Amino acid sequence: MKVAIIGSGRMGQALGTLFLEAGHEVMLTNSRGPESLSDLVAALGPNCHAGAVTAAVTWGDVVFLATPWGKTAEAVSVVDDWTDTVVVDTTNNRSKPGPDGLIDIGDTVSSVLVAGYVPGAHVVKAFNSTPLPFLVPALGANAGANNAVYIAGDDPAAKSLVADLIASIGGEAVDTGSLAIGGWMQGMSGPLAGTLEMLTPDEARSRVEAARAAL
Ligand SMILES: NC(=O)c1ccc[n+]([C@@H]2O[C@H](COP(=O)([O-])OP(=O)(O)OC[C@H]3O[C@@H](n4cnc5c(N)ncnc54)[C@H](OP(=O)(O)O)[C@@H]3O)[C@@H](O)[C@H]2O)c1
Repeated sequence: MKVAIIGSGRMGQALGTLFLEAGHEVMLTNSRGPESLSDLVAALGPNCHAGAVTAAVTWGDVVFLATPWGKTAEAVSVVDDWTDTVVVDTTNNRSKPGPDGLIDIGDTVSSVLVAGYVPGAHVVKAFNSTPLPFLVPALGANAGANNAVYIAGDDPAAKSLVADLIASIGGEAVDTGSLAIGGWMQGMSGPLAGTLEMLTPDEARSRVEAARAAL
């Protein structure tokens, strides 16, 4: 699969590396332009490319958002047409780890807000709820039983594509529901976020059921 990633910081590089190791092609982007990524893509090998955001969105079979919350709207605004693009939202409305880092978005759900930035796209929220130091070692070639990755979204085909992508890097997708409900559960104010551990798919499904029962 061709995986475009908007944002090449910690999240973009971590996911890009996992996808490359699984045999996918990756295009990385950032705010400073493809030239600034030349050393990084050279280090990541021939299946890794650098591009502008507009080029990457046209190129990719799937587009990951891995930008800071405050930069996400601006990053995607350069693209005119998001129709039928599968977009994976990894972002969180926080500026830094810890309670002080939470960015107030009122009663809205972050992934629903993000979906509004990319009209016509099929947004799936994933990879946001576990910090990278726990997520990354649990996936890839050495993935074990604690490999659950929550996904939320409104389009079954997009969710299925993202679940296949997650399986290709050793994970198992656990469906939390719609972008509004599942996205809220996975988001910063929801009951599934911020776990400093990876769960087995059965454990993750139990937590989703408990969260649904408490609604
Ligand atoms: N790190 C984690 O453990 C973790 C876990 C779960 C979720 N997340 C979420 O993942 C997202 C990214 O976090 P991170 O830790 O990877 O951040 P980061 O290391 O600061 O990287 C941010 C990336 O976004 C790029 N960017 C900023 N503005 C852009 C624009 N207008 N167009 C294109 N690219 C732009 C930056 O490029 P430049 O450097 O060129 O500006 C940089 O490559 C955040 O929303 C965060 O909440 C992170």
